[in-house]
Amino acid sequence: MSELNKIALKVLSNGKGILAADESTGTMTKRLESVNVSSSPENRLLFRETLFSSESMKNCIGGVILYDETIRQTSNSNKTIPELISSSGVIPGIKVDTGAKILAGSIKEKITEGLDGLRERLEEYYKLGARFTKWRGVYNISNKYPSKLSIHSNAHALARYSALVQECKMVPIVEPEVLMDGNHSAEDCFNKTSKVIKKCFEELILHNIDLTGIILKPNMILAGISSDKKISSKEVAKLTLKCLKETVPTDVPGIAFLSGGQTEMEATENLNLINKHNNTNFIMTYSYGRALQKSALKFWSKDIKDIKGTQKIFNHRANMCTLAAQGKWSAELEKK
Ligand code: 13P
Repeated sequence: MSELNKIALKVLSNGKGILAADESTGTMTKRLESVNVSSSPENRLLFRETLFSSESMKNCIGGVILYDETIRQTSNSNKTIPELISSSGVIPGIKVDTGAKILAGSIKEKITEGLDGLRERLEEYYKLGARFTKWRGVYNISNKYPSKLSIHSNAHALARYSALVQECKMVPIVEPEVLMDGNHSAEDCFNKTSKVIKKCFEELILHNIDLTGIILKPNMILAGISSDKKISSKEVAKLTLKCLKETVPTDVPGIAFLSGGQTEMEATENLNLINKHNNTNFIMTYSYGRALQKSALKFWSKDIKDIKGTQKIFNHRANMCTLAAQGKWSAELEKK
């Protein structure tokens, strides 16, 4: 077993999942302002530190994805943030892309940037304690999109990123996110997500990536947010499993879904059914941002000093997701 495979399995095994706390300062500012908290470095740290020192870090969370600002911050207990996370047996990770910009040649689509100088940044992040990384490619669905150009160029960037990350002895999370925005059908999402993931693996293989040392972070197969043809959770699970079984090479150890704008409950229920019917060899777990943090953030915003109360809400959500990652969640357990 390679060292990279060991890291990936440590992050994903036994129902553990990933806390995606890597919102850029711009996104975090939007999140904080939506609950009327001002977005200062201190407030961003306080909220995140509250989550990072909660009980569920030990039982539910295998890895935390950090943002550049956070990995350099020091906690109240005088530990660096990676030290605080590691003290619960959790592996620190880091977002390394620098965001999605307009894709020249297809002005309505985006290409993720951040390859220039990446090798040097990765060496620094490794020294700061990171052992895995994240890069997100983003794709829109419409009758014309995602275009061949966007599918090709984002896959190429994900593969070049992954090669640099593995060279630096870290596990790359490969995140091709086909967005929920739009009124497309689930079938359309299935077909386009399948194309996107196939192309990603074509490029990963071309770049000699050790597939046993990556984590795939895809979207689930859903109808668009404004579609009037929503499908049931059972159907989501069935289509998601079919898509991944057909497109992901069996060497990949695990898949950690993004929540992508689903409610906390949808993201939990869908993951639970995916695991109940998992007919693949992949670990299927979560790498949620909003679907792990939303209720905790709302509660915290009412009294940012109520650490214990906020942690209680977060612990519950993380426990529910970890049950779902084992196919053991039920709606009754939500009420307890
Ligand atoms: P959401 O779960 O809120 O979609 O965030 C996950 C993530 O890391 C997006 O890049």
